[in-house]
Amino acid sequence: MLFREYYSFYHMKKLYIVANWKSNLPSPDAITWLHAISDTPIPPECEVIVCPPFILLSDMRSFIKKNTMPITLGAQNISPFTPGAYTGEINAKDASAIITHAIVGHSERRKYFGETDEEVIRKVERLVENGITPILCVSDMKQMDYYVAHGNVIREHASEIIFVYEPPGAISGGGAYHPENPDTANRNAKEISNKIGKKVITLYGGSVNPDDSATLFSQTHIDGGLIGKASLDPVAFTKILQNR
Ligand code: PGA
Repeated sequence: MLFREYYSFYHMKKLYIVANWKSNLPSPDAITWLHAISDTPIPPECEVIVCPPFILLSDMRSFIKKNTMPITLGAQNISPFTPGAYTGEINAKDASAIITHAIVGHSERRKYFGETDEEVIRKVERLVENGITPILCVSDMKQMDYYVAHGNVIREHASEIIFVYEPPGAISGGGAYHPENPDTANRNAKEISNKIGKKVITLYGGSVNPDDSATLFSQTHIDGGLIGKASLDPVAFTKILQNR
């Protein structure tokens, strides 16, 4: 057992901290962000997964490898198709050379790109086939019912999936923070495991910020957070890692 795993297992709840940069670059740039993050040790119980825009993945990967930083990289989306004539798509097979995780089913993809629950299931299939961990966003329990009823891959590979309870109304959209009430977030996170029929890793997303993260992460059924706006600022992000 590696030290990080030993420490997390015996000492504290393991926390998954996922940065979703959306279609933004951190200021002034991704490498400076990584430098700033590396100034403060990442607590051993935290697994940090950074999901930048695709164009940054390669440079960030080189930097992380060179500096042996305990950070893994994820995509914010993936093609529902296998490789082929699908203009503009990035498929899971090619992406698996560079990422270990991918966010799928984010409510902004539904809102602005018309993505459906059925397509999200196909994306999860492509990720699982290629050994990439899906970070599957769930907006509400009705949607979770659909995934359980129609997503064989989600039921059968639930223990390889990181679920995120993320009510669209709680997302900052880059503006003010207005997170979900922690009790409600906890209840819905628990409900995700109940619907699968066993405990699954479930994060909370929507306006996680340095002032609220500790309360949210201390909820019994919340295993970490999907963080948008606050992840762009290395100072705010480091505070979230420290204020567990
Ligand atoms: P937010 O975004 O933290 O800015 O609310 C979270 C998300 O949309 O994943």
